[in-house]
This record gives sequence, structure tokens and C-alpha cells, in this order.
Amino acid sequence: MKSTSCGIQIPYSKAENILSILRQNRIINLDLEFIRKDETIVIPVITTQDNLRNLLESTVIDFDYNIDNFIFTKKEKHPKNLFEAVQDTIPEHLHEYIPKAYDIIGDIIIIDVPEEILTYKPEFGKALLSLFSSIKTVYRKASAVSGELRIREIEYLSGEKKCETIHTEHGIKIAVNVCEAYFSPRLGHEHKRVADQSKEGEVIIDLFSGVGSFPLHITKRKSSTVHAVDINKEALKCLGKSIKINNLIGVIIPTLGDCRRIADTLPKADRIIMNLPGKAQEYIDVVCRIAKPSSIIYFYQFVSSSSPFEDMKEILKEKLKEQNWIIKEIISFEKIRESAPREIHACLEVSIIPQHK
Ligand SMILES: C[S@@+](CC[C@H](N)C(=O)[O-])C[C@H]1O[C@@H](n2cnc3c(N)ncnc32)[C@H](O)[C@@H]1O
Repeated sequence: MKSTSCGIQIPYSKAENILSILRQNRIINLDLEFIRKDETIVIPVITTQDNLRNLLESTVIDFDYNIDNFIFTKKEKHPKNLFEAVQDTIPEHLHEYIPKAYDIIGDIIIIDVPEEILTYKPEFGKALLSLFSSIKTVYRKASAVSGELRIREIEYLSGEKKCETIHTEHGIKIAVNVCEAYFSPRLGHEHKRVADQSKEGEVIIDLFSGVGSFPLHITKRKSSTVHAVDINKEALKCLGKSIKINNLIGVIIPTLGDCRRIADTLPKADRIIMNLPGKAQEYIDVVCRIAKPSSIIYFYQFVSSSSPFEDMKEILKEKLKEQNWIIKEIISFEKIRESAPREIHACLEVSIIPQHK
């Protein structure tokens, strides 16, 4: 794109002298490209020809210059973020709906495009591909996470048509199939936190492992044995790939099946991870079958943000009581992230013991 603007043509070798005066007066037009012509350079300015002449008359300049209107090329603008990349294609009254966040999983982006601007979904696909050279594919969230497998529908928007990627979390490579297995890149800190707390040589059971993020984080750092249980075949296929591409010092034993059905095949555990928010409380009987006295459990829930700790403690206490177990010690309470308005995803970490009759 071309644009006519006032400019000053000077010998190239003298450009620095003039540039410093123009910079001090903040009148260089930064939206336009400088013109190189033979041994001269033309600098675009945001003032009138008369103003520029007056300014330079008060300065000692020992070379010829030419002030005139020139035709400049507009600089190509590289958007810095998604808003800048799509704002020109979406009417201004809808700008408030442009998402500020999206999930980056390996070289795939999944964005939640609000209903109000859904007709512009192709623009989001194109914009995200051009913003990040490392991104190969863009999807949009087409439903909430649901069902036993905790997966959501996603709609392809742009790039390579693929579902598989390798996501890196704190140096650990996690194979993910975004179409057929649950994965949230927002849990990276939590995966690492739990792994850091575990001790060498422990037996750990992840009852709802998904693609195995907790087991991978743990066995990358500790020489422990982690049983990764899940009913989703695709999730465990991903885990199989991750085991091969990480140099793990511990051992992961993937087990396909409903954790209640296969509980008797599992050993007694030092730690049990239960990241199935909303349903984890229905599996406390399974926990009591595989726990030792003083086993540590990581109990995850979506709870109201007004009294999350009390609510979770009550749910857990009640369910343990039905199995004649009790909380021995509350070790920690971790707020992980906001999961909905006034609702958080949280983890209550406790040790448990059978109740003496
Ligand atoms: C929230 S996702 C797991 C997240 C994973 N722990 C992580 O941090 O990435 C819950 C997983 O539980 C699995 N699941 C649901 N019910 C199950 C059951 N009864 N037994 C074993 N796995 C189950 C689902 O297939 C899903 O992969």
C-alpha cells in the first residue's frame, strides 16, 4: 500500500544528523518505509513542509536537502496478538467477544470462539496460524468436556488435519491425541507439584490417568513404580508413545480398564491420584481397597469458590466413613484454577487410615 506524505531527502552519508533532529522532535512517520534512491535517503515525517523548513533553518546544516511530498510504501504490520490479528475483519461492536486466551497443546491450538462471533471462526483459524510459526493446526471447542472419557467435541478450523501432537510440560514430552483423549495444558504446574512431593521407590496409583501426565512427571524425577489406569484406549496409546520418548528413571505400568473392576489386580499404594473432578467421590471404595494405613490421596473436585476447602473435606469425610476409613492428616489444599464462574478445580491432599472399631 502506498501513501503520500511530507518527507525530507538527504545524502545517505548524512542521514544520522537529520535523523537525530527528527527523533528529538518525534516527527518521523514510523508507519512508512524510508526510500533509498541512488546516494540519498527520503525520511517520511508527520509535519508540514513549512514546519519542517522552520525547524531546520534554526540548525546548522552543511549539505543540501530537499523537502517535498513523496510517495512512500506503508510498512507491513505484524500483529502482536490475536486481537490485533483479527480486529480489522470483525466489526468494532463485537470486539469485546474476541478471546484473550486459547490452549496451546504441542503444535495445536484449541480456541473457544464465543457464539456472538462464531461466523468469524475461519478468521480465527487463519490468524492463529499466522501469529505462531510453530503452530500447525487450529481447532475450536465445539462442546463442553463430557461423558465417561471426559473429552469434548472440537471443530477443525485451519492448518494440517491432524489430532496427534507432542506437548512439552516442564521438559517432559507428552503424546496427546486432542480428538480422542482428555488433556489440559493448564495442569502442568499441578502435575509437577505432585511429582515433586512423591518419594523415591514409592508405589503410586493414578486411577484416572488419561494420557499419563502425572505418571510421566513422577517417573521422570523418581525411581518409583506408577500404575496408570484409564478406560480410554486412545489415552493409554498416547502414554505408550510417551514412555518411549522420555528417559524415565521410574517404571509406568499402564492398565486399560475401569478402576473399580481391576482394583483387585493392583498392589497396595503409597499414593493414590484421583483426578476425576465431579466423580472422584464415587470411587472412594476403590481407594480403600488399594490403600495402606497412612496412604496419601490426592482428591480432586470442582467446588464452589466460596468455601472450597470445607466442602471438599466434608465430601471426602462422608465417603471415607461409608468405608470405615478416616482422614488421618490433612496435608495440603491446592486451588488449581477457576473452572467456571464462582467454581474452582481444587486438590485436597490427605493421608487416610482405617477407623478402629
Ligand atoms: C480428567 S481426565 C484425567 C486427567 C489426567 N489425570 C491429567 O491430569 O491429565 C479423567 C480420566 O478418567 C478416565 N476415567 C473415567 N472413568 C474411569 C474409570 N471408571 N476408570 C478408569 N478411568 C476412568 C477418563 O477416560 C479420563 O481419561
